[in-house]
Amino acid sequence: MAKRNRTDRLADWDRKYLWHPFTQMQEWEQDKPLIIEHGTGSYLIDTKGRKYLDGTSSIWVNLHGHRHPALDQAIKKQLGKIAHSTLLGLSNSPAILLARELIRIAPKGLSRVFYSDDGSTAVEVALKMAVQYWQQRQPAAGSKNTFLHLKLAYHGDTIGAVSVGNIDLFHSRFKPLLFPTLSAEPPYCYRCPLRLTYPSCRMACLEPIEQILRTRHRELAGFIVEPLVQAAAGMITSPPGYLKRIRELCTKYRVLLIADEVATGFGRTGKIFACQHENVTPDLMVISKGLTGGYMPLAATLATEEIYNAFLGKYEDFKTFFHGHSYTGNPLGCAVALANLAIFRKDKTLTKLRPKIAELKRLIRSVASLPHVGEIRQQGFMVGIELVKNRSTKEAYPLESRIGHRVAAEARMRGLLIRPLGNLIVLMPPLSTSIRELHQMVATVTAAIQAVTHQSSD
Ligand SMILES: Cc1ncc(COP(=O)(O)O)c(C=O)c1O
Repeated sequence: MAKRNRTDRLADWDRKYLWHPFTQMQEWEQDKPLIIEHGTGSYLIDTKGRKYLDGTSSIWVNLHGHRHPALDQAIKKQLGKIAHSTLLGLSNSPAILLARELIRIAPKGLSRVFYSDDGSTAVEVALKMAVQYWQQRQPAAGSKNTFLHLKLAYHGDTIGAVSVGNIDLFHSRFKPLLFPTLSAEPPYCYRCPLRLTYPSCRMACLEPIEQILRTRHRELAGFIVEPLVQAAAGMITSPPGYLKRIRELCTKYRVLLIADEVATGFGRTGKIFACQHENVTPDLMVISKGLTGGYMPLAATLATEEIYNAFLGKYEDFKTFFHGHSYTGNPLGCAVALANLAIFRKDKTLTKLRPKIAELKRLIRSVASLPHVGEIRQQGFMVGIELVKNRSTKEAYPLESRIGHRVAAEARMRGLLIRPLGNLIVLMPPLSTSIRELHQMVATVTAAIQAVTHQSSD
């Protein structure tokens, strides 16, 4: 009884005081919030003790499960020393050790680590670094101060990140605040903007990209891409060789390649970084989310020595990168990130992941045959199930029908937490999820899709 009262009280205070992200609060206030109190492995446990599988890795961050002993311990150990000190004018051991480790595992050629707090801030850092790099490296060449990005891109919610993003539902209101950019069609093969078919298209969508780079490279500081998977766009997976070709084009036209590995980094695609599938080294690489195994907010922008060198000079040259945050290089975050990377080594996380990726692939094949499943896209432990009103015409469900939201609600009643992206059901479990749990997740998603699409005629 006492437990129930406490939950009700918390629920009242949640509705009274909190404003949740990406949430229509009018609707939220009419519902009972699910309040998470504990976690263990792949499960989240609410205030009433009910267990749910964490099908989104708590929004794409958790890797080795909740309450991992080594990660818990790393934070406790660091807390015994100090929680925070600044990187402005000082250094700290976890920040140094983590930077060294990140450079060891990053694509060869990246050699410097600049810390920030989350994916969006790390994107801001990359954009500002790129613009300042060209100003200092090539002052005579004129202003290279805009960016190329793909349509449907999502790089975060701060103004710079929104400027290089292109999800209308999230971004259109803020247009007056955004700086101008150039955009190109993404490799969305299921709904190919060029109405071609892969592989006979031979990646014709790269042609217009080359055209932009050829004609506008003098204005372009960088081309920002989500390597291999445009995640928030709808888990749009690029065909093999696409990223490598982008790298070649950026080199040819002297435009910096910025790889946003916020969603794809740290094993999510089957390798530590998605760029490594195609042996690509970007000029700048943005990481966050899985960096701390889902424990603490921490991010970093990795740069090549060439970029770093362009910022060197006497103080009075004013080539300094005048950017930083209060919690830049936070020791607690860096300590748990180090422990996170140690687990990859000790537990051979990526080796153990391979058969699980294959099993997930096998399992979701059965979902593909459901009548309202248009396409399933998978790269490693990133899965997107695109629901369609009409499979043969690929007619989309109208957003107002909230099909993804309804499937997620149904899955929640059956013990699985997922968060859709419009009509796309996303499965992004922690890398530590067992085969048994994968079976349970896919079975629940299947049942939830069936339940909702059977009753849905809209
Ligand atoms: C590719 C990508 N970049 C950047 C971000 C923004 O990260 P954050 O939410 O930590 O600011 C996200 C978040 O989902 C992302 O998927």
